[in-house]
Amino acid sequence: MSLAGRTANPATQPVPVRVGGFGGTNGLVAYLAAQSIDFLVDATHPYAATIAAHAAEAAMRMGVPILALRRPAWTAVAGDRWSEVDNVDGAVRTLGETPRRVFLAIGRQEIGAFAAAPQHNYLIRSVDPIEPPLNVPHANYLVARGPFTEDDERALLKENRIGYVVAKNSGGHATYGKIAAARALGVNVIMLRRPNLPRVSSVETVQDAVAWLDHAPAPGVERGV
Ligand SMILES: NC(=O)c1ccc[n+]([C@@H]2O[C@H](COP(=O)([O-])OP(=O)(O)OC[C@H]3O[C@@H](n4cnc5c(N)ncnc54)[C@H](OP(=O)(O)O)[C@@H]3O)[C@@H](O)[C@H]2O)c1
Repeated sequence: MSLAGRTANPATQPVPVRVGGFGGTNGLVAYLAAQSIDFLVDATHPYAATIAAHAAEAAMRMGVPILALRRPAWTAVAGDRWSEVDNVDGAVRTLGETPRRVFLAIGRQEIGAFAAAPQHNYLIRSVDPIEPPLNVPHANYLVARGPFTEDDERALLKENRIGYVVAKNSGGHATYGKIAAARALGVNVIMLRRPNLPRVSSVETVQDAVAWLDHAPAPGVERGV
């Protein structure tokens, strides 16, 4: 398993783990060769478009079969108050000029864009602390790691009188609580659309990925026939 290294203390895994970038597509190609990798499963976050593209390209160059594990995106249901935007700048624009109480649940990497809208009051949740803090006068920080229940998320939104949740469309259950809580409370959600990902074979569950590995041709069997 390969982790990007974005979190200081990642959850432990029952398989060997390496951490950190490969050095672009060429680095990943070299790694696949050096480690005699037979199969590549791209199980990265749906917003990690760069490594997904590198994985697809490196697998193609090496003739290594690749499968992407892609959780289906959430879709809005009755009662949801979603605005869908392409990126964080779109989220900033959607918040507008009027000061709002905003819950940022998008991770650490793109938080900086909200410094352009210092009139809002932010609650910012991340797995690791935001360093340096966002350059705005009103921000509170919450360091927490999911999964989060709908009840807890509802309490959090109420307690902080949140008017807008900014979220990524991660799919799955672990982080859906805030979306369901926002619906229940009539809170607005600004949903960042997923980036374009490479077109490779994909499955929606870990079980299906394991089944793919179980049924894949044994290493050494000629590929592509
Ligand atoms: N990565 C995560 O664990 C994670 C978790 C939750 C959310 N996200 C979201 O995904 C978006 C992009 O995240 P990102 O910067 O991590 O991905 P990215 O933009 O796709 O990748 C940037 C670089 O990080 C390295 N990298 C990414 N994933 C890797 C992995 N599994 N193993 C080894 N190297 C890896 C690669 O470096 P080289 O080119 O040097 O190989 C890659 O070029 C952000 O919006 C973030 O919030 C990511």
